Amino acid sequence: MTIESLKYHIKPNEFEKLPVDWEEVFGRKAPLFVEIGFGNGEFLIYLAKEYPNVNIVGFELSLTSFVKAQKKLYDEGIENVRLVMTDGRFGLRELFTDNSVKKVYVNFPCPWSKKGHEDRRVTAGDFVETLASVLEMGGEFELATDDERYASEVHELLSKSDFFGVEPIHINPDRKVKTRYERKWIEDGRTIHIIRAKKVKNVSVKRLTWEESAVHVKIESLNEERIPSLKGKVYKGKNDRVFVVKEVFKDFDGEKYYMKIISSDKGFDQHYNLILEKKRNFWVLKIDSTCQPYRTPAVKWSLYKIKEELSNQFARFK
Ligand SMILES: C[S@@+](CC[C@H](N)C(=O)[O-])C[C@H]1O[C@@H](n2cnc3c(N)ncnc32)[C@H](O)[C@@H]1O
Repeated sequence: MTIESLKYHIKPNEFEKLPVDWEEVFGRKAPLFVEIGFGNGEFLIYLAKEYPNVNIVGFELSLTSFVKAQKKLYDEGIENVRLVMTDGRFGLRELFTDNSVKKVYVNFPCPWSKKGHEDRRVTAGDFVETLASVLEMGGEFELATDDERYASEVHELLSKSDFFGVEPIHINPDRKVKTRYERKWIEDGRTIHIIRAKKVKNVSVKRLTWEESAVHVKIESLNEERIPSLKGKVYKGKNDRVFVVKEVFKDFDGEKYYMKIISSDKGFDQHYNLILEKKRNFWVLKIDSTCQPYRTPAVKWSLYKIKEELSNQFARFK
């Protein structure tokens, strides 16, 4: 991979505030398309060439796919695509304003058919409301799958909400481009189902990260003896927010502690470190800038809750 191909990768978790100003990111004002789970990036390249006057944002979780797609985009000389490595359900909700996206595509997501795994689906949680929130009026959603049951469940989910006009499921349509998984399933003789829905009603979904938030807290009077006991503790708060202190390390000079944290907001997991640093007559607990998480309620709460746990003056924080 060349250094130039890194230009596609943007990291909104490091931005000062959200949502993202996409016009600034792309350096031009243009309609926005989004693809969730772009795999090796073939469909993004097709979109970029077919719609040169559109700005296109792709979400992917797999590092291997991400690197492959970056390379492909660079080799093809594509300029109107940017990639974000995060859960597309979270990204769609947190990085875009209402009525700002023209099309959202999902090609061959895992249907998670096993009982109990439904909440892992791309279409789970508040996805339908998020779509209806960020799509502009008349904007479109398209999902392709080889799984008949999943297709009819998504079709029903969209039809039941009054935000979308939903077309009957298209069976084996002739699409201009076929993704890697599409070719695979066609070779296996499977049927391709395409769901297309158009937004017909506005709604605004609640965002978790748009409020300004502190990235550090000051602790005036700290009980240092309690620090090691935080290791392994699980904190469960309101609105499905959770965090775990996985590890606590002391710096060589004894002036700093590092805490490895995993937090979760309604299933959106993040890994990051907190640094607890001794100043002259107080301590500061802050997010380590080398692994910046999105500032979700669980992340903010981890700062305040740990302050509460270590503080000599007992105080309650939300
Ligand atoms: C079965 S593959 C399909 C890849 C490609 N769209 C295709 O049709 O060839 C599903 C892809 O979605 C990605 N993925 C799964 N859940 C995701 C999510 N919540 N956000 C972003 N990407 C996701 C996976 O990493 C994987 O690359």
